[in-house]
Amino acid sequence: MKDVGENMIPQSLPKKTITIDKWTLSDIDCLAIGAFSPLSGFMVEEDYLSVVETMRLADGSVWPLPVTLAVDDGQYGDIQPGERVLLRGEDGGNYAILQVESCYYPDKLREAMQVFRTADPAHPGVKRLFEKGNLYLGGSLDVLQRPVPEQFAEYYLTPAQTKALFAQKNWKTVVGFQTRNPVHRAHEYIQKAALEIVDGLFLNPLMGATKADDIPADVRMKSYLTLLSHYYPSDRVLLAAFPAAMRYAGPREAVFHALVRKNYGCTHFIVGRDHAGVGNYYGTYDAQHIFSEFRPDELGISLLFFEHSFYCTACEGMATAKTCPHDSSRHVTLSGTKVRELLRSGIKPPAQFSRPEVAAVLIEGLHEKSGSGLEGC
Ligand code: ADX
Repeated sequence: MKDVGENMIPQSLPKKTITIDKWTLSDIDCLAIGAFSPLSGFMVEEDYLSVVETMRLADGSVWPLPVTLAVDDGQYGDIQPGERVLLRGEDGGNYAILQVESCYYPDKLREAMQVFRTADPAHPGVKRLFEKGNLYLGGSLDVLQRPVPEQFAEYYLTPAQTKALFAQKNWKTVVGFQTRNPVHRAHEYIQKAALEIVDGLFLNPLMGATKADDIPADVRMKSYLTLLSHYYPSDRVLLAAFPAAMRYAGPREAVFHALVRKNYGCTHFIVGRDHAGVGNYYGTYDAQHIFSEFRPDELGISLLFFEHSFYCTACEGMATAKTCPHDSSRHVTLSGTKVRELLRSGIKPPAQFSRPEVAAVLIEGLHEKSGSGLEGC
């Protein structure tokens, strides 16, 4: 794995410049720190086609999602393989130089159907795919600087740093947990169930772009810190930000999330109900079934699958259909939309659903956002 410093080589800047959005910048950051290893740049056409069709790079290694640089061909159609192009952020920062190796036009409909299993423009991943430029540029990157997070910078650890921390803590087995949501009781239950059989929990919330109605990352981060301080043993959990954007690609994204957590040093990864799903595009356990398409040795990380979990008022505890004999009238379940609605109205969801301390932080955070007129709250 390459440390970020290694490919930060001072050099003269190319004149041709592409302005990249925050989403793309978060991909560059993940590529730079080794989170997307074995990728270290944007996909060339051969890898892209292979990934779309087979969930593997051209060399056969498992990789389920395209990581591509899409540009507008009206503006950048003259770029040729062999050129160097400066990638500049919307903030004016020079973040990376792309060594262009491949310029190609994707079949976006095919990409949508293969990656998202739908071409419905109401799907947030499909929407973004069709909004992006129609020309893809592939090639390796020379990273000039990492984006500086506005808040919680100390939690933006590189895979080299998390691996060193796991070793320092003498954790031989570590379970990774992906989330784009606040951690509610169901999440806590499956994390702790997993922690019973491994040495440490790597709580690795996604901090990149999410759809507008998801809870903003900074509010979530405060809620994680509150939850951990009240309900988790500090010597068994490491909290770190995953800088990537959310794709909402359900099953394929679950494989991607698992491979990334392997890169951060995890030996195990949790996949629960409708992992990385949105709306009703994926079956509840499709994101678990997809793993049977790969051999365990080529994934290199063990999966821990969990059924839909909930609080049962008859059991007086958290459970799943596997462990609870009671009918759904005894189960406390709330949809993500309902929970967000409650929180935005300043109402705490039941304590069986969300820890009161967590709910309080979320309500306060969302209230502050709405007061400041920010989007996405
Ligand atoms: S996402 O990143 O996968 O979209 P989310 O917060 O919804 O984030 O889920 C995080 C992880 O918890 C996923 O593995 C998901 O499958 C699992 N999960 C969420 N809610 C439940 C639940 N009620 N029961 C079991 N697993 C769940």
